[in-house]
Amino acid sequence: MSKNILDLALIPGDGIGPEVTAEALKVLKAAIGEDNVKTTEYGLGAEHWLETGETLTDETLDAIRGHQAILFGAVGAAPNDTRIPSGLLEREILLKLRFTFDHAVNFRPSVLYPGTTSPLANPGNIDFVVFREGTEGLYVGNGGSMRTGTKHEVANETSVNTAYGVERVVRAAFEYAQGRERKHVTLLHKHNVLVHAGHLWNRIVNEVGQEFPEVTHDYLHVDAAMIFLTTDPGRFDVILTDNMFGDIVTDLAAAVTGGIGLAASGNLNINGTAPSMYEPVHGSAPDIAGQQKADPTAAILSAAILLEQEGYADAALRVNKAVWEDLAVRDNTTRTTQEVGDAIAAAV
Ligand code: NAI
Ligand code: MG
Repeated sequence: MSKNILDLALIPGDGIGPEVTAEALKVLKAAIGEDNVKTTEYGLGAEHWLETGETLTDETLDAIRGHQAILFGAVGAAPNDTRIPSGLLEREILLKLRFTFDHAVNFRPSVLYPGTTSPLANPGNIDFVVFREGTEGLYVGNGGSMRTGTKHEVANETSVNTAYGVERVVRAAFEYAQGRERKHVTLLHKHNVLVHAGHLWNRIVNEVGQEFPEVTHDYLHVDAAMIFLTTDPGRFDVILTDNMFGDIVTDLAAAVTGGIGLAASGNLNINGTAPSMYEPVHGSAPDIAGQQKADPTAAILSAAILLEQEGYADAALRVNKAVWEDLAVRDNTTRTTQEVGDAIAAAV
């Protein structure tokens, strides 16, 4: 039986991006065989912009669109690097990719692995996945300001929630929950205050929920949910929420499960119209770049999500198992980025 070649766009980016992406690719190749992966590298990010003045051209975007999936590192320079306008790379590379490629679901697992320490005194068993809506809400740039810079400035950002956009992420969350052991979806919103968007979300969850009789669901106001995320994170199975709440919730989720070096994500195009993009949650970490100090685990776990989503479920399981075992015996002080990648690739 011959399997199709996995055709990847590789965007290593800046700082530790290239270091961790190299290890993720190494592990991915170990999992499905080097000959079954084809990669094309795209040099995007701060360095590329400084050299060429280009962020992400339509031509490059078209070329990336032709691949099956995207493995992304991180883009961005040091926060005190004044040569790059704030927000430029986020808007013109990351958000452009997510919006143009219609990444409806931002998929972020939170697992407390054995051997990792949570800052919580009693973390319990943490194993949940956040389904964050990726293309709407407050992050669409629907706003503006007038009398800008004066004492009478007016600044508006309007949250956009469409029945179409909400339904597809709700459906994806229920479908995913169906395949999990606990089969439980928790909607986080604030429908007591944000009545228009909140009621739309609530109604669609109730409607779609009826199509999944095996999946239970409940609702929490997002602020109350942050209490439970610190006092009883084990109660969550699949968390479903909008774009901005999801951004905030997933940072806390990463923190309670042992930090940014382990947080992985997938930006999923769920109707197959463009490639999905897999990336660690962390940034380019200029403070440790080029020193082989970065933990490649978040990037490796992102590659595992890639494998799971792109039709290599067995390989994904093997990568997750190898990471699991590596974390259980890990001594963070002694190994380089490369050594962690080598060990996990060998175990795969
Ligand atoms: P950051 O995530 O790059 O770093 C925050 C802290 O965590 C630093 O102390 C860093 O050393 C540490 N850290 C991050 N990843 C690590 C890893 N794998 N192993 C060990 N330690 C790790 O966030 P920061 O410093 O706010 O941003 C740096 C640059 O990255 C900025 O230009 C920012 O805009 C960009 N950024 C890009 C993202 C992306 O491309 N998706 C996401 C977040 C930030
Ligand atoms: Mg964020």
